[in-house]
Amino acid sequence: MSFFEQHDRFFQSSIVGAWPLRLALRHHAIIETNAHCFAGARVLDLASHDGRWSLAALNAGAAHVTGVEARPDLVATANANFEHYGVARDRYDFIVGDLNHQLQAPGAFDVVLCLGYFYHTLNHLALWQYIASTNAQHVVLDGEVTPGEDMIIRVVTEDISAHANGISAAGVLNGQMLVGRPTTSVLGAMLRHFGYDCTFFDWATLLRERGVAFDQSTQSATNPVGDYGVGRRATALGVRVD
Ligand SMILES: C[S@@+](CC[C@H](N)C(=O)[O-])C[C@H]1O[C@@H](n2cnc3c(N)ncnc32)[C@H](O)[C@@H]1O
Repeated sequence: MSFFEQHDRFFQSSIVGAWPLRLALRHHAIIETNAHCFAGARVLDLASHDGRWSLAALNAGAAHVTGVEARPDLVATANANFEHYGVARDRYDFIVGDLNHQLQAPGAFDVVLCLGYFYHTLNHLALWQYIASTNAQHVVLDGEVTPGEDMIIRVVTEDISAHANGISAAGVLNGQMLVGRPTTSVLGAMLRHFGYDCTFFDWATLLRERGVAFDQSTQSATNPVGDYGVGRRATALGVRVD
């Protein structure tokens, strides 16, 4: 059984991309492909949501995970999920924090998970500064990108009332904030600037090998990984260059 089939509470504790096939394939790209990073690691999970990737990291061998999440109700959900699965209290912490306005992470870490977040902010340099402050050897990134090779960050407005979206202590007007979706070229350049080599996961091969169909439409229960299939979303591993 896959990780999320074994922990099927995550199919209900959030409606954000919680379709079983999407979570299973993301688990492959984010956790299984990078299994060597997690053994004994101290992990920082940014935008930790309901704790889905924090628990996956512990399950993959991490020693401890710290989740940072802006929405207090999601921190409560993550704590409830960890209590439900009987995780030892000294193996995790979930902290309420706004990643738009912090430059210093709460300590040193071996692995940073930045999943589903870097396109919900326009303060990218603060985010990379924060990640670099951990001295982590590995950074796993996953999120929406602007297709194409140009060095572009496409700016869009986001409604903060949706739990999937960005939220910020400053810059929110009429319930909307500005966020930026980088191309993969920009993501790679930002990582290199802060000291990491970057390799992108090959979603096209995974979807072909697994026989997963997808189309251009917005991801949904019937098109759960369309965004990865058409190149609107990417996953990458950053390795610190010493
Ligand atoms: C699309 S969800 C990603 C959830 C999960 N990490 C994943 O990849 O499946 C985006 C998450 O970012 C959180 N978030 C949005 N703005 C934030 C901020 N300024 N600081 C910290 N977390 C934020 C949201 O509350 C939400 O949990």
